[in-house]
Amino acid sequence: MKVLQHISLKPYNTFGIDVTARQLVEVTSVEDLKEVLQKSYASELFILGGGSNMLLTKDVEQTILHINLRGKQIIEENQDEVVVEAMAGENWHEFVMYCIERDFGGIENLSLIPGNVGTAPIQNIGAYGVEIKDTFESCTALDVQTLELRTFNREDCRFGYRDSIFKNEAKGRYIILSVRFRLTKRDHKLNTSYGSIDLFLEEKGIKDPGIKDISEAVISIRQSKLPNPKELGNSGSFFKNPVISTAELADLQKQYPEMPFYVLDEERVKIPAGWLIDRAGLKGYREGDAGVHEKQALVLVNYGNATGQEILALSQKIQERVSDMFNVSITPEVNIF
Ligand code: EPU
Repeated sequence: MKVLQHISLKPYNTFGIDVTARQLVEVTSVEDLKEVLQKSYASELFILGGGSNMLLTKDVEQTILHINLRGKQIIEENQDEVVVEAMAGENWHEFVMYCIERDFGGIENLSLIPGNVGTAPIQNIGAYGVEIKDTFESCTALDVQTLELRTFNREDCRFGYRDSIFKNEAKGRYIILSVRFRLTKRDHKLNTSYGSIDLFLEEKGIKDPGIKDISEAVISIRQSKLPNPKELGNSGSFFKNPVISTAELADLQKQYPEMPFYVLDEERVKIPAGWLIDRAGLKGYREGDAGVHEKQALVLVNYGNATGQEILALSQKIQERVSDMFNVSITPEVNIF
């Protein structure tokens, strides 16, 4: 266990926001974690994973618990499938690469998503037609009140679009320790339906792609429009794509016939928030060091020394502009503290 006092959280959040933590405790074992929880109340703790889906707007007075549990292992396998477990502190992309090297299929479309394995189920991370729930087998979590371990299967997690029980009823109650995935060893079900993946494969002349080809396509597409947090602070998509009714869509289409949408069911569609922000003229917009990314308007960026308050103010301005123009409200996907 490592205890640090009065430190900058800049290296601990992908937005690169420079706020101070009174105390940060890094735990590398479940025993450490239990020890910390025995000494303090859960309400006095601030749980930190990969710091990739948060905006820090002020100094943190609570003790930060940085979950750095490491390890990956194969739990069971047969000719067709394998169940792989990764500890919460494993870097998500490194875990995806570990699976691809072994030809374990199912999470290749989720290549290059920043963050750690343990926080991935909380918001049911997703990209290019795939979500974590599709291969999720179970996760083990520590109940911060009773210090007992609990296993959540897929149903228990109540996954939704960037949503799960851990953002709702179970919020603040559990710390995810490890996650298991059920992956394929042969007859991989490739998901190339997301337009630009097919296009990438076609351009490369790849006719019979494997999971590695899909991963490379995703990496290339992501790199072409999403900023690398190591170079430019960001938290991926800042907003969720809003869901509106088909009646509202029909109304909007009168004025914006080219508006893209994804059908969810007979009554609801999802609109890309990036398109709305772009059409509102805010792509590439910048106020000091806080900005809207030049290539993907859904991503807010920190050009260097933006404060969390400045990014938050910019996000509110964007919400207002989109609401005024389209009468659609967009809500943050990132957690704001
Ligand atoms: N668009 C614009 N201008 C922009 C951005 C997007 O016109 O500045 C249009 C695009 O042309 C396209 C549509 O909006 O027609 C959708 O854009 P894109 O394919 O880039 O996807 P997205 O809906 O903006 C979502 C996820 C991303 C994920 C991609 C790919 C959410 C909130 N975001 O973005 O996830 O990588 O799809 O599957 O659902 C994340 O959650 O951090 C994230 C990056």
